[in-house]
Amino acid sequence: MSEHVERSSAVTQDAAPRTAVVTGANRGIGSAIARRLVDEGYQVAGISRSGDAPEGVFGVTGDMRDTASVDAAFTAIEEHQGPTEVLVANAGITKDTLVMRMTDEEFTDVLDVNLTGVFRCVRRAAKGMIRRRTGRIVLISSVVGLYGSPGQVNYAASKAGLVGIARSVTRELGGRGITANVVAPGFIETAMTKELPEATQKQYLATIPAARFGQVEDVADAVTYLASPGAGYISGAVVPVDGGLGMGH
Ligand SMILES: NC(=O)c1ccc[n+]([C@@H]2O[C@H](COP(=O)([O-])OP(=O)(O)OC[C@H]3O[C@@H](n4cnc5c(N)ncnc54)[C@H](OP(=O)(O)O)[C@@H]3O)[C@@H](O)[C@H]2O)c1
Repeated sequence: MSEHVERSSAVTQDAAPRTAVVTGANRGIGSAIARRLVDEGYQVAGISRSGDAPEGVFGVTGDMRDTASVDAAFTAIEEHQGPTEVLVANAGITKDTLVMRMTDEEFTDVLDVNLTGVFRCVRRAAKGMIRRRTGRIVLISSVVGLYGSPGQVNYAASKAGLVGIARSVTRELGGRGITANVVAPGFIETAMTKELPEATQKQYLATIPAARFGQVEDVADAVTYLASPGAGYISGAVVPVDGGLGMGH
């Protein structure tokens, strides 16, 4: 019995993720996720164009729109803190406008950061995860990806695409000890949402069963759980963190 317990705890320790990369960790939701993972004992690195990062997080410059830049950022991080065991793909942008007015650039620019950028990170991080037969991938989507939103055809398409990435990665790499999940935040109080017109904010609040906007910590809680050893049998899931806003979507 005691031998069994010892063996189980050794396996758990081996499998426990210790290093994490959070894209867009310099502010907003990404910053909260990175700080929370640091509190949980992870070595955390952040990638953004500015390269800034919260205290205790190794900040690296990287542009999600550029494969060479993303690859170089991961290489710098791995030299600093070792192989990437947890990837949180959080960096994202909006360029909202009505579909009739949306230019090709407004559409493809958002896709390039929010969808292709995530693909670039997943491909780079998966290399080491496959070799080590362990890894946690968490993609930050949005309730908008599943629910839709006027003026956000580009953003919604990019965020819906993340579900396809997570589920395909799950099918492709699930047998290698790698999980891939999506967290879909609702209306979270950040700089990004403060830019929305006040009328839109009021409209959203009226439809949120929890009767409040979310906090960045609400998202960090869900991500931390999905990154943890205890979530090793959860993959291909979409976890809403939206106070019930998108229920069923
Ligand atoms: N706030 C919400 O209510 C809400 C709701 C649902 C989903 N989300 C999603 O949650 C994520 C974070 O949102 P947020 O509100 O915290 O946004 P934010 O405050 O605007 O932060 C965006 C982050 O992405 C980084 N970033 C943007 N373009 C980049 C690029 N080309 N290369 C590398 N990094 C880039 C930014 O850093 P640099 O500018 O320095 O590059 C920044 O760290 C996004 O994916 C967003 O779509 C947010």
